[in-house]
Amino acid sequence: MTIIHISAECYPIAKVGGLADVVGALPKYQNGSNIRSQVVMPFYDNAFTRENSFAPVYNSSVALGDTTYPVNILVLDEKPLDFDVFFIDIPELLFKDYVYASSDTERFLAFQIATLDWLLTWDTYPDIIHCHDHHTGLIPFMLQESYKYQSFRKTPNLLTIHNAQYQGWFSHNKVNLIPPFNFDHVGLLDWGGNINPLAAAIKCAWGVTTVSPSYMEELKQQANGLEHLLSSEHEKCVGILNGIDNHEWNPETDTFLIKNYSVKTVTTGAKANKKYLCERFNLNPKKPLFAFIGRLVYEKGSDLFPEVFKQALEHYDISILLLGSGDPETQNQLEALKPPFEGRFNAHIGYDERLSHIFYAGADFLLMPSRVEPCGLNQMYALRYGTIPIVRRIGGLKDTVTDISAEGGFGICHNNTSVPDIITAIERALILYKNQKEYKTIQTKIMEIDHSWDVSARDYINLYNSLIKLN
Ligand code: ADP
Ligand code: GLC
Repeated sequence: MTIIHISAECYPIAKVGGLADVVGALPKYQNGSNIRSQVVMPFYDNAFTRENSFAPVYNSSVALGDTTYPVNILVLDEKPLDFDVFFIDIPELLFKDYVYASSDTERFLAFQIATLDWLLTWDTYPDIIHCHDHHTGLIPFMLQESYKYQSFRKTPNLLTIHNAQYQGWFSHNKVNLIPPFNFDHVGLLDWGGNINPLAAAIKCAWGVTTVSPSYMEELKQQANGLEHLLSSEHEKCVGILNGIDNHEWNPETDTFLIKNYSVKTVTTGAKANKKYLCERFNLNPKKPLFAFIGRLVYEKGSDLFPEVFKQALEHYDISILLLGSGDPETQNQLEALKPPFEGRFNAHIGYDERLSHIFYAGADFLLMPSRVEPCGLNQMYALRYGTIPIVRRIGGLKDTVTDISAEGGFGICHNNTSVPDIITAIERALILYKNQKEYKTIQTKIMEIDHSWDVSARDYINLYNSLIKLN
């Protein structure tokens, strides 16, 4: 079976969030004796592309309405990854030093068309075309409706929704950018009066997955306008929980850590990483350390952080450390908290892959009070590194963390993304922390939970097989 994942992100090449981690891991776990799983992604001007060399495999051009742009399909000269990655290089459009911008319509449309044009040249077509998020959402529509891709009509395709908040909509004025199709079916592109790539993909893809079962159920109630569509298409929709790359995220071998450790040595290992964080960020290593890592956006509940942190630091003898960037107002408010809470609160505003690993290892608790969390990988990394997650019961967080009050529980869960709920959760975490025997029992237990991709990679293969049978 040949699988092509088409995505805007893939770790370690280009990463904004969890999409990159998924596309950078799932193919590894899918590849095997009968399966060849590959990735197609845009070629960006970033650290990875500057540090590696590439070889062309195909040169052509892509038409976007009346304009034509040169296209190079590239592969890595050497093979530093466990799976093949094909890069769509459209220098005039895609070759930028960022992954997303506010106006991405032309860039990602050109990427999708160039990808399909190139797949058309293959002697044997892939068995499965697996699209990720709205940046690739027009592919299922084009495969079904565009005249030039008619030979793909029998190729099963799948859409995975990593985040339904972002849908990539644009005006019908730009419909001429899409390769010619039967205009009687233009309604398939539309949702709420705009062209909506995510909605078009939900309508046209042979199968639709979300990245956790709970998120699929939640989307049928609230999906930023797509709830009725998801309910009506429910027969082809299923939630498959993301996994994590257990090789990349392994405290025993992680080269980013200050000190490696196993379940047996977690106390000293985690302590060494905490010591580093506390020295670097001027915190007291004796106090319990609560951390947050992630995008500072409304979905993650980050607008509440300034108030939550202020109240928590006023009432409890703890330290708080944050790694993230996003909403400028939140960033400013977090900066303003530094002087009054010097020595107890710090924030690294920005993106730093290495530091994130040290955070997972060195923090005592990881905060994730998300309003929306399709899956969330951070809580699974935290578990693997022996850091107890404090999560809101939502989406994938609900599917992966059980509260300590339940039998076999190992995390702290709360019902709402609200200041009082988060404060109460911090208070409960502190009670647990004071009982070091219980804390350590949980710490070793969570490190042994297996969240690797093994199971879910198989679920995807089963799903692909069921789509292939539809032919
Ligand atoms: P999302 O994709 O919604 O941002 P996930 O929990 O699925 O959330 O994945 C986030 C990923 O991005 C994790 O690998 C996390 O460690 C990483 N990450 C987020 N923000 C930062 C940051 N500022 N620096 C380093 N890594 C980050
Ligand atoms: C999205 C979601 C996140 C999920 C990730 C990977 O960015 O916000 O919850 O873990 O995709 O699927």
